[in-house]
Amino acid sequence: MPDGVQGIANMQVKPLSGSCGAEVRGIDLAALDDEGFATVNEVFLRHKVLCFRDQEMDEEALMAFGRRFGPLIVHPNLIADGNHPEVIAIRKEPGDKAAVGENWHTDTTCLEKPPLGSALYALEVPPAGGDTLFADQQGAWDLLSDGIKETLSGMRAVHNDTRVAGPATNFNALRSTRNREDDAWRPTESLHPVVRTHPETGRKGLFVNRAYTIRFEGMTEAESTPLLDYLYAAGERVELTCRVSWEPGTLTLWDNRCLKHAAINDYSGYRRDMRRIQIEGDRPS
Ligand code: SIN
Repeated sequence: MPDGVQGIANMQVKPLSGSCGAEVRGIDLAALDDEGFATVNEVFLRHKVLCFRDQEMDEEALMAFGRRFGPLIVHPNLIADGNHPEVIAIRKEPGDKAAVGENWHTDTTCLEKPPLGSALYALEVPPAGGDTLFADQQGAWDLLSDGIKETLSGMRAVHNDTRVAGPATNFNALRSTRNREDDAWRPTESLHPVVRTHPETGRKGLFVNRAYTIRFEGMTEAESTPLLDYLYAAGERVELTCRVSWEPGTLTLWDNRCLKHAAINDYSGYRRDMRRIQIEGDRPS
């Protein structure tokens, strides 16, 4: 093995809950060899969200890690303020009232090919709070009755970004991470199956979320809302969740194809500064 390239002999994986998530120690993501990466990917597919401790990463190393999974996305709405359009500063200043991603959501499902996953790296965290919750949408699907599963199979839903971007939203008045709210902004909209099959594991999972899903195909919003609300709640049951508590140097990688997540905004008066990249995904089916 060449100098500086690391295998996974010292890797320790500890589950974060009974449903999803694991904490990983003893590995340097910036120095992984191909075999090490293959093992990380296997562990990722098993646990769905991995929280790697004690990583030293600049933006280039973060992008290089993400690119091992696939090309990176330039976010359609969140504006990068550094040197790389692919790297978004998810930053909350002490005076900010809102945080990015507070509502349960799956990332950027307005896109025809929503991200496979996201990697978020912590530079600065509050003394307490600022955790992120994740919920397993395959577990949510498994818990539904055969009757509702049959109803949902074959249904599609319209996803767009009208709740999270554009001049009507006004997030820029409340938080530091800049958002497209200019008059030239136009919505991005896509149609996705309500239950999607994971392209690598073959497992089925619910694929609707509060931030982007607007209505079912062929139905009005009013007609869609009661069932969507039921499915959102079914996908946010506490027994489906795990919780990531951040430290400076934590990198969390999540599988957007089978999880929802929510950033907990409970650290008023403190700074939280993270860098996020998103990896291109496939068209959900
Ligand atoms: C996000 O939704 O991508 C942000 C998550 C977080 O800041 O914890």
